[in-house]
Amino acid sequence: MSETEVEQRREPTPFDPAGRRVLVTGSSSGLGAALAVGLAERGAVVGVCGRRTDRLEAVLELVRRHSPDSRAWTVDLADLDGIDAFARRVVEDLGGLDVLVNNAGIPKRRWAWEHRPDEITQVLRINVESPIRLTQALLGELDRRDGHVVFIGSVAARLSPPNEAVYSASKAAVTAYAEGLRVDLGVAGSSLGVHVVQPGVLTTELFTLPDNDPSLSDVEPLDAGEIVGAVLGVLGSGRVEGFVPGWFADLPPVKAGDPDGFLEGAVAYTRGRLDELGVDPPRPPGAGD
Ligand SMILES: NC(=O)c1ccc[n+]([C@@H]2O[C@H](COP(=O)([O-])OP(=O)(O)OC[C@H]3O[C@@H](n4cnc5c(N)ncnc54)[C@H](OP(=O)(O)O)[C@@H]3O)[C@@H](O)[C@H]2O)c1
Repeated sequence: MSETEVEQRREPTPFDPAGRRVLVTGSSSGLGAALAVGLAERGAVVGVCGRRTDRLEAVLELVRRHSPDSRAWTVDLADLDGIDAFARRVVEDLGGLDVLVNNAGIPKRRWAWEHRPDEITQVLRINVESPIRLTQALLGELDRRDGHVVFIGSVAARLSPPNEAVYSASKAAVTAYAEGLRVDLGVAGSSLGVHVVQPGVLTTELFTLPDNDPSLSDVEPLDAGEIVGAVLGVLGSGRVEGFVPGWFADLPPVKAGDPDGFLEGAVAYTRGRLDELGVDPPRPPGAGD
């Protein structure tokens, strides 16, 4: 495909959510809640969902101040057998769907060899299988309406941060799925937009959830509300991938230019960070207790 053809596929004007029906998964807190409110403020009819009904009700109340037809559903998206029925319910209750934002996700901060089997399954189910299954279930509806599907990935998909190997693998998997979906839809002649937004560090409950090692990040966190501009930006540009903050986009090409050097740099940087925090480096697998 020539550069001109690629440019022609991009939307020429900023994305306007007014009047669009949007489902934001995992919108009981954090980025999903910020996105739901931000899109409702701009006139979208928003569907919010998650497991915590009380938190969803609070978000729905904020959303409905701007968009009274918005809806909430309590759902466990790890229940893969329930995904098709949930998708049908969303379309019925919202009267159609223009944009799916696959945002629900869980972190897992653990040294690579310490992940328990059950948590590997859980991370891959919620961060990978579930958004893929929900996307498949809603693809026909989104395609009919020339809609968009957005995946909330992570810079971890591209940058191999320490202490997050399985989480990084899950975000890399969903990024690869989005790229593959974009190609397959293009082959089929579909104009449905497919996008991945890769956040860096935004202030949410992700960093304080139990059953995770403490975060080693020393990046200044951004407000969760920054996700709104990032998602609208990537939808408007028609690009597949966007980063928030935007400067993270400079790093994957650096890694691609010297992958081994980049990974060695990550090791040296992390050892320095552990030293700064007064934390002993992890013990290698097989070292015993
Ligand atoms: N914050 C960051 O700096 C950052 C950076 C990179 C990527 N991300 C990504 O951003 C997304 C949102 O995370 P966040 O930072 O906003 O953290 P968060 O506040 O913990 O939000 C996670 C959301 O996912 C929902 N969720 C988790 N498991 C679910 C399940 N089984 N079924 C339904 N919903 C489920 C949670 O709702 P319930 O608990 O109510 O079910 C919650 O609404 C995640 O995909 C995360 O990987 C965040």
